[in-house]
Amino acid sequence: MSEDHRHVQEFFGTRAADWDRKFPEDGPAFADAVAACGLRAGDRVLDAGCGTGRALVPLRTAVGPDGTVLGADLSPQMLSAARLAGRGGPGALLLADVARLPLRDAVLDAVFAAGLIAHLPDPGANLCELARVVRPGGLLALFHPIGRAALAARHGRQLTSEDVRAEHNLRPLLARSGWRMTSYTDEDRRFLALSVRHP
Ligand SMILES: C[S@@+](CC[C@H](N)C(=O)[O-])C[C@H]1O[C@@H](n2cnc3c(N)ncnc32)[C@H](O)[C@@H]1O
Repeated sequence: MSEDHRHVQEFFGTRAADWDRKFPEDGPAFADAVAACGLRAGDRVLDAGCGTGRALVPLRTAVGPDGTVLGADLSPQMLSAARLAGRGGPGALLLADVARLPLRDAVLDAVFAAGLIAHLPDPGANLCELARVVRPGGLLALFHPIGRAALAARHGRQLTSEDVRAEHNLRPLLARSGWRMTSYTDEDRRFLALSVRHP
């Protein structure tokens, strides 16, 4: 296991049991973000870095009983918390690195990733891997239930122009990684960047 993986597992492993209690009011923001993705009944979708699976129920609602919902995370404790919360039913949970997904090329219609991208050691390569598993024309949603400025204030830090989620960084990064960004929202109560897989 790499040092980056060990760090992610330690950092999120110790936070998994309290994760949902810490952010009890995020549910509607997740439901709204999933609704903005325009998923259809029967779609196959991955929640990348699913954590405790907060997106899995709205994703299952969006794709219906004939759809496929997968949740992948590097942290066994996060996945256990997801199971305890009953989210292993709405979505199949995988202990997996989003940098090397155990999925065939172009097998998915969409990837939803909440709070993930800032934790990736090599965002360009990792976004390419997400592009590999999504069909041409499929969707990527990068979401956070809090905007960049509000998150920085919560952590007592300044926003810098190097922030990977700043529009001027994210748009070209996505373009180099197989995605065309189609909308970008950065408000206090939500960050949502939607992209389409290049044909
Ligand atoms: C900020 S948390 C967000 C969890 C969840 N998506 C949510 O919004 O509640 C980031 C999650 O990404 C996972 N993660 C970080 N790097 C990962 C990687 N390379 N592969 C899979 N999961 C990863 C962490 O274990 C953690 O659960």
